[in-house]
Amino acid sequence: CFWVRNLALKKRLPGPFAWPLVGNAMQLGQMPHITFAKLAKRYGNVYQIRLGSSDIVVLNGDAAIRKALLQHSIEFAGRPNFVSFQSVSGGTGMAFTSYSKQWKMHRKIAQSTIRAFSSANSQTKKSFEKHIAAEAEEMIETFLRLSSNDQYFNPSHELTIAAANIICALCFGKRYGHNDLEFRTVLGNVSKFGETVGAGSLVDVMPWLQSFPNPVRSVFQSFKALNKDFFTFVKGKVVEHRQSYDPEVTRDMSDAFIGVIDQADTETGLTEAHTEGTVSDLIGAGLDTVSTALNWMLLLLVKHPSIQTKLQEEIDKTVGRDRLPSIEDRSNLAYLDAFIYETMRFTSFVPVTIPHSTTADVTIEGLHIPKDTVVFINQWSVNHDPQKWHDPHIFNPSRFLDDTGALDKDLTNGVMIFSIGKRRCIGDQIAKVEVFLIAAMLLHQLTFENDPSQDLSLNCSYGLTLKPFDYKISAKPRGSVFNGA
Ligand code: HEM
Repeated sequence: CFWVRNLALKKRLPGPFAWPLVGNAMQLGQMPHITFAKLAKRYGNVYQIRLGSSDIVVLNGDAAIRKALLQHSIEFAGRPNFVSFQSVSGGTGMAFTSYSKQWKMHRKIAQSTIRAFSSANSQTKKSFEKHIAAEAEEMIETFLRLSSNDQYFNPSHELTIAAANIICALCFGKRYGHNDLEFRTVLGNVSKFGETVGAGSLVDVMPWLQSFPNPVRSVFQSFKALNKDFFTFVKGKVVEHRQSYDPEVTRDMSDAFIGVIDQADTETGLTEAHTEGTVSDLIGAGLDTVSTALNWMLLLLVKHPSIQTKLQEEIDKTVGRDRLPSIEDRSNLAYLDAFIYETMRFTSFVPVTIPHSTTADVTIEGLHIPKDTVVFINQWSVNHDPQKWHDPHIFNPSRFLDDTGALDKDLTNGVMIFSIGKRRCIGDQIAKVEVFLIAAMLLHQLTFENDPSQDLSLNCSYGLTLKPFDYKISAKPRGSVFNGA
């Protein structure tokens, strides 16, 4: 029963003393992932904290996380039934719903549809690449415009629009102009999403915070509003697709989901609402993550001008100045790939995964964890483990290159940013293609410079993604290929 299970949890798992009512909430600090890693030094890689009324197990380090998520994959594949999760994608997505037979089918459909529209054959690969290149070209023009007359600009909004347009092109067959008012409004708030669903967010573990005015309640209220607006936007587009749907012609991923999910047998439990939920999940998941990756990349380029120069030299040598880079160049641009892996490792910009929960009792490293326990998975601790990485706090892309200058695949596989196991990100491949091609094109065409009036820091805000504080840069042209200049 519940009490016996709880007693077992308390007796067996190590962890810090938990205060009444709040538990360890006041000890998390501004950067909970770093606090979790510090606690692991004291209590081991698997320990328990308490947040409000919830006992939570925190997993740290490569070995414990791999053991849990790969060897006990089903037991760790659940999601907690947090109130905030119910607001996401109208409650009918698959990213924030728990493990079940229906969820397995739902995830499989989402996964195979992404593949069908991005990498299934050379034609889909080309068409996906074209969408990305079009966004990168527009971004180059926008950055140059924003840099005219020696101005400096913050790139984050343009990066969000570009990432949104790429995933919208896959889902809806069209992109939206940078001036589309509805699109801009919906996107304006999306970056706030991660504040509420990141590990350590308090509204789910202290429901009483909703009953009187306080900062947590107001963040939660805006979270609900932004999810509603976002879902309404996506649903409207899917409904338009449904009205003009022709089973003979699959125009985009929305059509593909309408074909598979709308028409699914009733015993699958999947309905039209799940079609809308799936599209909303993919757009939401593919937007903030990719734009945050690009945001960190630009910041690190201006922070390390010599690395930027080395990247440009590699690109110029491989691609030349007569054409733009393409995805086929990837195998010859090892230093650029190394730079991207180092950006992911060093920033660990998804420091803790979306919270998991246990679907059954499970024992790991001799410690018993009962069914329905919330589990935080600290990816940052894997990427900053001094046993695994030499000087983990130093940004050094060359760490991923071997003596011949080739990418060391064992090392790149050691970076954990897309999680592993049953809940592993299903957009990892398309994300890597997006980030690679955009980075290659930007570096081929532009040189980024720091605003000398600002003291460039790597400080960031915590949430599902770590976001750098606002910074300003300028972009200088390197001689445009597409204008023939
Ligand atoms: C889940 C990372 C891009 C779709 C996740 C998770 C992480 C992650 C850490 C949670 C895994 C867990 O809970 O254990 C990233 C990063 C990205 C990225 C770092 C970009 C650099 C994308 C893109 C898409 C996508 C482009 C889709 C088009 C999803 C979905 C889930 C997910 C649907 C939920 C999976 C599930 O609950 O089973 N991602 N992601 N992601 N991601 Fe990504």
